[in-house]
Amino acid sequence: MTVMTLEPLLWARCNQSLVAKIIGECAYEECWEPTPLSKGEYELVIGDRSYRFHARQSIWGWLQVDPESIRCQGQEVSSATEFLVNAQPDLKLNDIDLGNLLEEIQNTLYSTYRQQERLLAYTAGDMVQLPAEELQSLLDGHPKAIANKGRIGWGTEELALYAPESGQSVRLQLLLVHRSLCTVGYEPETDPWHLLQLHVSDEQNQVIDQLLKDRGTTRSEYYPVPVHPWQWQRHINVQYQAWIQSGDIIPVGELADDYLPQQSIRTFSNLRDRADYDIKLPLTILNTSCFRGIPGKHIETGADLSQWLSSIVSEDPLLSGLVVQREICGIHCRHPVQEQVAQTPYRYREMLGVVWRESLQKFVNQDEQGILMATLMQCDSRGKALVAEYIRRSGLAPEAWLRELFSKVVVPLYHLMAKYGVGLVAHGQNISVILRDHVPVRVSVKDFHGDLRIVDQDFPELADMPMQVKACLTRFPAKYLIHDLVTGHFVTTLRFISPLVEEQCGVTEARFYALLAESISKYQKQHPELAARYELFPMFTDTILKVCINRVRFRIGYADSAERPIPELGTPINNPLVLDRVTEHDYDTAS
Ligand SMILES: Nc1ncnc2c1ncn2[C@@H]1O[C@H](COP(=O)(O)OP(=O)(O)OP(=O)(O)O)[C@@H](O)[C@H]1O
Ligand SMILES: [Mg+2]
Repeated sequence: MTVMTLEPLLWARCNQSLVAKIIGECAYEECWEPTPLSKGEYELVIGDRSYRFHARQSIWGWLQVDPESIRCQGQEVSSATEFLVNAQPDLKLNDIDLGNLLEEIQNTLYSTYRQQERLLAYTAGDMVQLPAEELQSLLDGHPKAIANKGRIGWGTEELALYAPESGQSVRLQLLLVHRSLCTVGYEPETDPWHLLQLHVSDEQNQVIDQLLKDRGTTRSEYYPVPVHPWQWQRHINVQYQAWIQSGDIIPVGELADDYLPQQSIRTFSNLRDRADYDIKLPLTILNTSCFRGIPGKHIETGADLSQWLSSIVSEDPLLSGLVVQREICGIHCRHPVQEQVAQTPYRYREMLGVVWRESLQKFVNQDEQGILMATLMQCDSRGKALVAEYIRRSGLAPEAWLRELFSKVVVPLYHLMAKYGVGLVAHGQNISVILRDHVPVRVSVKDFHGDLRIVDQDFPELADMPMQVKACLTRFPAKYLIHDLVTGHFVTTLRFISPLVEEQCGVTEARFYALLAESISKYQKQHPELAARYELFPMFTDTILKVCINRVRFRIGYADSAERPIPELGTPINNPLVLDRVTEHDYDTAS
C-alpha cells in the first residue's frame, strides 16, 4: 500500500499557491474582476465570501497573487477545492463539471505536493547544473492550466511509478503488430525494425525471431511497437485482446533501456548515454487539455514533414540557429472495431502507436546545455528564479542576455512564420533553448503531430512541401496562425518570465518587451523583402486576441467528444510590444 505522509505546512502552501493561481488565471480569463483597494491590495467577493490578497499587476493585465497574503473573512485559505466550491456560480460550473474539476484539482494538488517536496532539496544554483532530463522532473508544469497535473485515470501507484516529478525511470513493453493494423511513416534509413535494433540485445532478437517462427511468419509481416507498461495493462491488453488472440499482436516483453518521462508525461528520454532518440507514446489519461493519445492523422506524413522542415532550415542562413527535433518514424495501430464508429470518443482512436523523435541531447555539444523554455520560469523552493541564475552565471548584463534570448529564440520562430507560413505552438514545453556558458545560442523545436500548422495561403515558399504533407496539416488564416507565436510564446511563456526578470534582475517588464520589440524590428528592418508578410503577421498591433484555456474546460466539461476541444476567446489584450502606449503607470513595477 502506498501511503504518502503529508507535511501539513507544505500541503497548505500547495493549496495557497493553487488558490493564488486560480484567482489570477480566472481573473485573466475574465471569470471575475477583483477590486483594487489600496495599492497592491485587492478584494474578490465570491458567493457570500470576501477574499483579500496582495497582488502585482503585470504588463499583461494579469494579477500575480501573493499566495501567503490571501485571507477569507480574515482567515488563511487552506483548501483549493473549498475555494472552487465557493466559486462555482462565478465560474458557471454545473455540479457534474464541478465534481469532475474537483477530482482534477485534487490530483493536481497531490502531484504538486510531491514535486514541491522534491524541490526542497535544491537551490536554483543546484538546479541549473542538473542533467537536462533530471531538471525536467522538477518543473512546475503548465503555467496557465489551473489543473495542470490532472492525470485523470491515475492513482498514487501510477503517479509514483510514472509521473515526471517522481523522477523514476520506466521500462517499456514491446509488441509486434501485424502490418495490416498499422499506419506508418518513416525516413528511409530509420524504419521501425532498424530503430528497434537500438533497443534490443542479441538475446531479445532471438526471442523475437522465435516468436515469429512459431507462428509461421517473419518480420516482414509485423512492426515493432513499444508500449508504456500502464497503457499495456490498462488498455491494450484488454481492448486489443481479440488481436492478441488472433496473433495479429504478439507481446514480446520488456525492452532493456531505462526511460525517464519528460514534462509532457508521455514522451520519454532514453537514459543510455546521449541516446539519439526520444520515444513518444499514447497514454489514455486526461492531462490538461485532452487525452494524451497518438492520433493516426499525422503519422504517415510525420517523417516527411520533419524532413521538409529540416531542409528549409539547412538552406536558410537565418534559420542556422534553429534545431529541428525530427520525428523520424511513427506508427499508429488502429482499433478495427472502434474505427467503424464515426463519432466514437477520440481517445479510442488513439490508444496504440509510437513516435520516435530526435532527442535534444543529440544536438547539444558537450559545452552546452539544452533546456525547455519552461525552465526559465521555474523558481526554487526559496523563490529564486532559474532565469536569474542563468543570467548571473552568464556574466552578461540582464539586458544583453535578454537580447540574446530574443534574437536566438523569437526571431527564428517569427521568420519561420513570416517567410514559410509555418506556425508551431511555441509554448514552454515545445520550445527548448540551448545555452553555452549560460548564454542562449540556439533554439530547438519539436512536437509536429498536431502542434505544427501552416498558413491557408499558397506561399511560394511552401511550394516544395510534399502534397501529402500539406494535405494533412491544419491550415489557418494568418490572423490565427500568428497565435502560435503570440499566444503560445509571448502569453504562455514570456508572460511568466518577465515578472521574475523584473523582480530579480532589475529589468522592468516594459523594458523586457521593449527589448523584444527591438529584436523583432531589427529583424524586420534587415529583411525588407518580407515586408508584405510582416503586414500579414503583424507584431505591433494595439491589441492581441486573448485565448482562455481554463474557460474551455468550464464550458465543455468532461464528457467525451469526437474531437479535441478548441479554445475560447476573451477581450483582446493590450499588446506590450507597442511601446508608446504602455507606460509604467499602466502596471505595477516590482521595484
Ligand atoms: N510549461 C508548459 N507549457 C505547456 N505544457 C506543459 C508545460 N509543462 C508541462 N506541460 C505539459 O506538457 C504537455 C504539453 O502538450 P503538448 O501537446 O505540447 O505535448 P505532447 O504532444 O503531449 O508531447 P510532446 O511535446 O513531448 O510531443 C501537456 O501534457 C502539459 O500539461
Ligand atoms: Mg508538446
